[in-house]
Amino acid sequence: MNPLSQDSRKAAMRTNLRADTIVIEGGKPLSGTVDVRGAKNLVTKAMVAALLADTPSVLRDVPAIADVNVVTGMLGAYGVTVESSGDGTYELDPANVERAHFAQIDALAGESRIPILFCGPLLHRLGEALIPDLGGCRIGNRPINFHMDALRAFGAVVDKSYEGIRLTAPDGLRGADIELPYPSVGATEQVLLTSVLAEGTTELRNAAIEPEILDLIAVLQKMGAIITVEPNRVIFIEGVERLRGYEHRAMFDRNEAASWASAALATRGDIFVVGARQQDLTTYLNVFRKVGGEFEVREDGIRFWHPGGDLRPVEIETDVHPGFMTDWQQPLIVALTQAHGTSVVHETVYENRFGFTQALVQMGAQITIHPGGLASPTRRVARRPLEQSAVIEGPTPLTGADIHVPDLRGGFSHLIAALTASGTSRVSNLGLIGRGYEHFTDKLAGLGAEFRLED
Ligand code: EPU
Repeated sequence: MNPLSQDSRKAAMRTNLRADTIVIEGGKPLSGTVDVRGAKNLVTKAMVAALLADTPSVLRDVPAIADVNVVTGMLGAYGVTVESSGDGTYELDPANVERAHFAQIDALAGESRIPILFCGPLLHRLGEALIPDLGGCRIGNRPINFHMDALRAFGAVVDKSYEGIRLTAPDGLRGADIELPYPSVGATEQVLLTSVLAEGTTELRNAAIEPEILDLIAVLQKMGAIITVEPNRVIFIEGVERLRGYEHRAMFDRNEAASWASAALATRGDIFVVGARQQDLTTYLNVFRKVGGEFEVREDGIRFWHPGGDLRPVEIETDVHPGFMTDWQQPLIVALTQAHGTSVVHETVYENRFGFTQALVQMGAQITIHPGGLASPTRRVARRPLEQSAVIEGPTPLTGADIHVPDLRGGFSHLIAALTASGTSRVSNLGLIGRGYEHFTDKLAGLGAEFRLED
């Protein structure tokens, strides 16, 4: 048995997932229904937005995942009262915002990327923000230069100290004219959360426009913000003097929905994902259909299934919205190991997001990683300096193996690979999957997966 790793132990404690390892008997199709709730990549940001208000906010459909617990802990450290009911409704009261003890936030920040988004709200509320070293998945360098440049443009002064980064705003924050070098999700959210209370107007060009960002804009509008999304990735924000609390039901988790869809395809199964919405998944659905998967859009969700016969290979490029999300490639690649022919996946968003394929190769997949990427006449996304490509030859039978979860999405693809493979697999470091997938072992059990959990 693998010892419980420190990362896994911390994350596991936060999701009530006690097990570190899942032992899976694979080779059985997954079949049944799963529910997806609020998107990890919206919920955590909407929680930070509550700091900007002067009255309480209510957020619904919050999933029980470790990242939510990290943000709850951070907000608590800053004096925000967070109360949750069993059904995923969170009430966040910012009436008593105060400075936090560094040790408190440092202990939490190391597990997530979200603390960086506290900068603007803390500068507005307290005139100072201290950001310790950030955590999150190790899928590339993940610099924060766009965030810091944007905050400086608003008038923040950034000092580096041995504790992390200290920001102050001696003259307050003023609207700014910002063009992002790349449509970064986090930097766009940073600008939104900072500009809404800044004095004057902000123009943000080359913004990310992921559905989770549009949902965050909806939250901010409910709070009293004035935000206009223009064509061509331009967002205008007219600063207001105060914001009130919001009441909001979070949009569904597109990444979780796509993960279950790929699991249905890889295991030759049939999964109805309750809560999935076609409009926010159209790019994924096109690829799912090209590979040979079938889906049916229903009023309350989308049913995904393998119709029998051979899957077809595809060439895809990950990209910012409305492209194929970088978080969708890992589960899909498991299905592509079962397609007849050569598939190519160009990862253009992160420079190191194919580490998880090593485990698939160990299980029998034929996957070659090309650092530096591959040119191709059919490519549409501009090549980036740090990109990589994966070439997947299929079909290859997978056989069970002992594998260790490297990151959130890669980890879920390991689960799918173990469920697809014949024989027994032991997947360890499960706590990392609990960072973003709610009750995933219960959901697997409901889909007929055969497994047992070990500490
Ligand atoms: N980048 C910079 N400088 C910056 C910020 C980003 O160079 O200051 C680069 C990154 O290194 C990367 C690219 O820009 O190469 C895109 O990064 P982005 O800022 O868009 O990503 P993020 O905000 O850190 C969010 C999600 C990720 C998701 C990406 C892309 C959250 C908490 N994380 O990350 O989700 O992959 O957007 O859609 O919202 C996940 O859920 O597993 C996950 C990693």
